[in-house]
Amino acid sequence: MSEVIISCKDIVKTFNSGVAEVKALQGITLDVYKNELLMLVGPSGCGKTTFVSVVTALLRFDSGSCKVLGQEISTMSDEEKTAFRGENIGFVFQSFNLLASLSAIENVALPLTIAGVKREKALHQAREMLKAVELTSKADFKPNHLSGGQQQRVAIARALVHEPKLIICDEPTSSLDHKSGQVVMELLQSITKEKGATLIVVTHDNRIYKYADRMAYMEDGKILKVEGA
Ligand SMILES: Nc1ncnc2c1ncn2[C@@H]1O[C@H](COP(=O)(O)OP(=O)(O)OP(=O)(O)O)[C@@H](O)[C@H]1O
Ligand SMILES: [Mg+2]
Repeated sequence: MSEVIISCKDIVKTFNSGVAEVKALQGITLDVYKNELLMLVGPSGCGKTTFVSVVTALLRFDSGSCKVLGQEISTMSDEEKTAFRGENIGFVFQSFNLLASLSAIENVALPLTIAGVKREKALHQAREMLKAVELTSKADFKPNHLSGGQQQRVAIARALVHEPKLIICDEPTSSLDHKSGQVVMELLQSITKEKGATLIVVTHDNRIYKYADRMAYMEDGKILKVEGA
């Protein structure tokens, strides 16, 4: 196997929400390799979103080590984490997190404009991404005038537009019909293979399992087994 992009060792995360303590991650050890599409599956509440939030430096963890692209996340400052995410990571959230006041194309262009790309160029690249997810005709629509599946595809286009090295998708096909789901997965797969990106896809959707290079099965905050390649 090739270069290790993510190396997690014994990651523990406990939520204390007043009433009860929830052991969301109970010692996760997992390596993710360059250019692979790793699918993370498991029952609702087993810790999938918590885990990808740790890997993307959006959520602090209690103990263990998490190295992403050679950098230990737990020792980064908040500013370093923000810069690191902006440069290296594309994230599709389970809730799409689109900005309501921006049109579809402006949402997609956002990672580029934040990175300092000129508006004209950013919009051009955003249009190309919207075309790839088959949403050209909706470029100027605001998110609340789009269906759930269309919003999900805008979120995917936004995650990919700056060609990040690492792409993390939490349920990217949950609101999509079969055909749109296949279009999205084929796009994600081609980006992994052609642009040399690495992907983690959290999913419940067994129609897309065939796109995985490896499958990691989670339960009760632990990785039960990893299959494939
Ligand atoms: N912010 C939080 N505060 C308290 N508990 C939380 C918080 N976020 C998640 N949890 C708990 O941690 C556990 C893991 O949640 P997580 O969202 O990671 O599950 P998941 O595998 O992504 O589930 P789903 O498939 O339903 O999205 C759950 O028991 C959940 O209730
Ligand atoms: Mg989740």
